[in-house]
Amino acid sequence: MFQNQEITKDVFYVGVNDRQKHKFENMLPLPQGVSYNSYLIVDEKTALVDTVDIAMGDIFIEKIQSQLQGRTLDYLIINHMEPDHSGSLKLLRKYYPEMQIVGNSKTLDMVYGFYEVTGKTLEIKDEDTLVLGKHKLQFHLTPMVHWPETMMTYEITEQILFSGDAFGCFGTLDGAVVDENMNVDKYWDEMTRYYANIVGKYGSAVQKALKKLTPLDINYICSTHGPVWKEYITKVVDVYDQLSRYETNEGVVIVYGSMYGNTELMAETVAQGVAQAGIKDVIIHNVSKSDPSVIIQDIFKYRGLIVGSPTYCNELYPEVESLLSKIEIRGIKNHIFGCFGSYTWASAAVKRLTTFVETMKWTSAEIMVDEKQGLKKDNYQACLELGSQVAALVKSFKCDPPHCV
Ligand SMILES: Cc1cc2nc3c(=O)[nH]c(=O)nc-3n(C[C@H](O)[C@H](O)[C@H](O)COP(=O)(O)O)c2cc1C
Ligand SMILES: [Fe+2]
Ligand SMILES: [Fe+2]
Repeated sequence: MFQNQEITKDVFYVGVNDRQKHKFENMLPLPQGVSYNSYLIVDEKTALVDTVDIAMGDIFIEKIQSQLQGRTLDYLIINHMEPDHSGSLKLLRKYYPEMQIVGNSKTLDMVYGFYEVTGKTLEIKDEDTLVLGKHKLQFHLTPMVHWPETMMTYEITEQILFSGDAFGCFGTLDGAVVDENMNVDKYWDEMTRYYANIVGKYGSAVQKALKKLTPLDINYICSTHGPVWKEYITKVVDVYDQLSRYETNEGVVIVYGSMYGNTELMAETVAQGVAQAGIKDVIIHNVSKSDPSVIIQDIFKYRGLIVGSPTYCNELYPEVESLLSKIEIRGIKNHIFGCFGSYTWASAAVKRLTTFVETMKWTSAEIMVDEKQGLKKDNYQACLELGSQVAALVKSFKCDPPHCV
């Protein structure tokens, strides 16, 4: 029944859209959904590249069967074992018991580890090739471009890169599959949010992978989420390159927590100081209202970060603490930092924020504003000064290699 979309004459899109899941990894909201992309190459031998989330397993199998028209599936290439892509593996093995599962040694360990799937496998090493007929696949191991087993598969004849999660983004595919046939506007922000939250920690691995891929001529990038890139390949590679170098734009993100408005008023004042010093991109997030994935996205985008928190049970406000942990585990680099806080009897928030910036090894503004109870004149001025100090550092910032070039 299914008419699968053609990428090239023998390469078909057999992926699916997920419009039901609320949160990716049970954490990251999906206001525009997500696609799980899978590709079928029909040649003398047939090969499927990656699978989809098991929630869509039935439709996925039907799409494959529609295309194969009774032929068998010879190979399943696994670029990445995260369950949004490997989820239908066990089901596929039931339909195609003779299929050879193709992956590197780490992949094949996980095939058994996650699913106890056995049967024919083909273990490949970096730059090994597999001939399907006219089409010839070459495997490029790109460890930690999300997980240790991650690899990319390059189809040599038609110059198609099956890139796994790399170059992917949130957002369903609404009708068309290849970028030249759609308006791609909605995907750019979702690419940054996807990268920042999912791949963000692995900037140096992405840089290594990009260098490894440089010699390849690429007509299509077929990633596992979002559009197939043809027209926008240069832009997409640039986005990933910039993000993985932690290269930032001139702007300041101010994040605060506040129960009764004292810290919030300080945030407003700090923002005024930043703007008065000539920074136009000032983004304020109330940590209890903005989604953390959007805050992390903005932190990846802009060079300055100023965090404010009340003292809460001798600690940071818990929502602020949670955000700091999200920043720490991603090892975000190249930022200018400032902080402020509010307390009533014994201050703890600003001290914790100070240890945070030491851990991150970022440059910090000298001034830190710590107000007892409501914001008063002296500290009002100090908040303006904090904003302008951070702005000046953001403007004069030169980042150190290897993170910037
Ligand atoms: C649940 C709770 C716990 C608090 N714990 C502390 C504390 O340990 N030390 C302190 O000095 N103030 C503490 N405070 C007071 C707040 O830090 C202080 O009132 C601050 O100005 C609140 O800022 P906000 O108006 O931005 O919420 C606590 C307040 C609340 C509601
Ligand atoms: Fe992944
Ligand atoms: Fe994925």
